[in-house]
Amino acid sequence: MTDPTRRLAPVVRIAPAKLNLTLAIVGRRSDGFHALHSVMVPLALADRLSLAVMPAGDDTLHTSGFDPGPPESNLVTKAIRGARAALRGSGTATPPLAVRLDKQIPVAAGLAGGSSDAAAAIDAALEAWGGELTQERQAELAAFLGSDVPFFLAGGPALVEGRGERLTPLHGLRGDAQPGLLLVTPAVAARTADVFAAWAAGAMAEPGVARRTSEHFASEFGSGLTGRQLVERAGVLAAANDLLPAAASVVPGLVALRRALTRLLGRPIGLSGSGPTLWAVYPSVDAASEAATSVRTAVDEGTIPAPGERPPFVAATTIQRSDR
Ligand code: C5P
Repeated sequence: MTDPTRRLAPVVRIAPAKLNLTLAIVGRRSDGFHALHSVMVPLALADRLSLAVMPAGDDTLHTSGFDPGPPESNLVTKAIRGARAALRGSGTATPPLAVRLDKQIPVAAGLAGGSSDAAAAIDAALEAWGGELTQERQAELAAFLGSDVPFFLAGGPALVEGRGERLTPLHGLRGDAQPGLLLVTPAVAARTADVFAAWAAGAMAEPGVARRTSEHFASEFGSGLTGRQLVERAGVLAAANDLLPAAASVVPGLVALRRALTRLLGRPIGLSGSGPTLWAVYPSVDAASEAATSVRTAVDEGTIPAPGERPPFVAATTIQRSDR
């Protein structure tokens, strides 16, 4: 029999953001999606999902922090519905869930916060209901919800291929390495579909460059790199995102911001996913925090351009430690 106290305690999950250290487009698929070769890492920057079983009614979703839009179109709501449908016929009761989502990850930013929330919601809902789905079924549901969701279900740094559903776990960082990452997200949402459409319409990078870097880096990162080695590779990594020209055509002012950050910080500046989040790698989180302060000051003083109606989101974070 199910323990009633377990059902009453909320289930809590931390849903990390991701960063693409490389992103190569290696083909177009017959389903209209693009085939990728991308090295992705989970970050310490994370949303927090808390979910509790309700005696009756409908699923509810309350959010705080960044506004992810209406609950009906939230991937968390869809993930819960999907998990419930997948459990149908299994004998597991799937009562309504009350969900609280604290969004610390900016929305439509290339950090996959919504996808991470969805992966966390599948896992948390199964625990709250005491239900079980095979790894295959969970992976299928994740891929159905979105191209980035399977990455979060697997957890840890990975080489991501196919549409996003083929994952090869990578060792990632070695030793006590804790490099810092500076994130700068201008307050202009970039819809992934628009950025891929701009790429397909011709806003492409020089072919092959990102792919060569991505393949080489995946094998290096697969056996483990120190923080210093990661910092040394920042220049090639920052040039290894095939979606940069497309993101620049969708987000006016992105190129000017990237140039201004390069000048201000004297570091290579990369783009995460389809953007518009820009990143820089530092030897430590403290160094990244100092850089964050100088970016905020420059934005306040108007010495660097910041597209959007609000100031950009500026944060210092790090790569989430993994047990691999
Ligand atoms: O899977 P997801 O909903 O995140 O994708 C959003 C859009 O981005 C897709 O509808 C598609 O236009 C584009 N996309 C793509 N190739 C991928 C991932 C996304 O073309 N590998």
